[in-house]
Amino acid sequence: ETVDWDIEDAGKSGYDHYMLKEINEQPHALRECLRGRPRELEGSIEIDELEGLERPAHVHFVACGTSYHAALYGARLFREQGIRTNTFLASEYDVDSIPVDETTLVVGVTQSGETADTLRALRAANRIGAETLSVTNVVGCSAARETDYVMYIRAGPEIGVAATKTFASQQVALAMLSRALTGASSSGFIEALRALPDQVQSILDTSHAAAVADEYVDADAYFFIGRGYNAPVALEGALKMKEITYKHAEGFPAGELKHGPLALVTDRTPVFAMLPGDSTAEKMLGNVREVESRGAPIVAVTDVPAQLGSHADHVLEIPDTHELFAPILSNIQLQLVSYWVANRLERSIDKPRNLAKSVTVE
Ligand code: G6P
Repeated sequence: ETVDWDIEDAGKSGYDHYMLKEINEQPHALRECLRGRPRELEGSIEIDELEGLERPAHVHFVACGTSYHAALYGARLFREQGIRTNTFLASEYDVDSIPVDETTLVVGVTQSGETADTLRALRAANRIGAETLSVTNVVGCSAARETDYVMYIRAGPEIGVAATKTFASQQVALAMLSRALTGASSSGFIEALRALPDQVQSILDTSHAAAVADEYVDADAYFFIGRGYNAPVALEGALKMKEITYKHAEGFPAGELKHGPLALVTDRTPVFAMLPGDSTAEKMLGNVREVESRGAPIVAVTDVPAQLGSHADHVLEIPDTHELFAPILSNIQLQLVSYWVANRLERSIDKPRNLAKSVTVE
């Protein structure tokens, strides 16, 4: 007698989908990303493979899809360090109309290192004489071979088409890069970085995202809002939802709600609000009231549930962290919500229709 054994399932270690396995691998992926890089004693972050790379005058990030959202987050961290930084969708990066020269470091953020749009942008930057760096997951990929420098995010192989653990690792990698290129890191920053893998684990252990998904699986659409450091995660939450559920989802910086999207908000469109207890909280609460008064269900993703949770129908809690890292933790909850909505809808989660893991045409 034999047991049915499917080669496809063998790699999933008991999970129904690679996506769920990879979501659960994030504590390990982040530990790998951090390994040997933060140096408590020196109060610095060292990225060995970037030896010789100096603080740049200007930075341009180029990326697509989920990697673009990581780049938007990274760019804010660079600006916070006083570096003039812009973020471009790689397909829109046109060196003839965008000021770029030898003083610019052009950073391609690409999980696979094979995305045609991103490679084209990096090649154009090379031709102009800019310094180039790829932040990638795949050793020896095209991006790594064609840029002056390469930083590895060390997330391990990702099979699911929807990027999950590579996004978290990109966020952590870019947070480290912003400090590695600018000198000192506070002990609070390093401590908070080090705490992230365990904090992600605690979210995975306690999340009730599946219950939230059950309640809203029949919604007309899903909206995601955040401000500042949390705005890119709102975009990513919506992208993930679209990719794997095939349902209408939109994410935007919360201030934009009133400039259009509010027209779509009804009692059948749950709004996921990133509500960390930071300087954005007050304005975020104002935005939450705007959608609440249109009858929309509110799901708050917050590290201060006692203060902000009372404004919400559901709370997805994240552990208390450095305010720069709340988006990394909030995103874990959003990944789980999308996964469980797609699961209930019986979608092809690991291979959504029409999508490819890496897109090698422009
Ligand atoms: C494809 C994938 C996305 C990914 C994007 C960029 O569209 O489906 O998940 O974010 O490519 O991929 P990269 O490998 O450059 O990060």
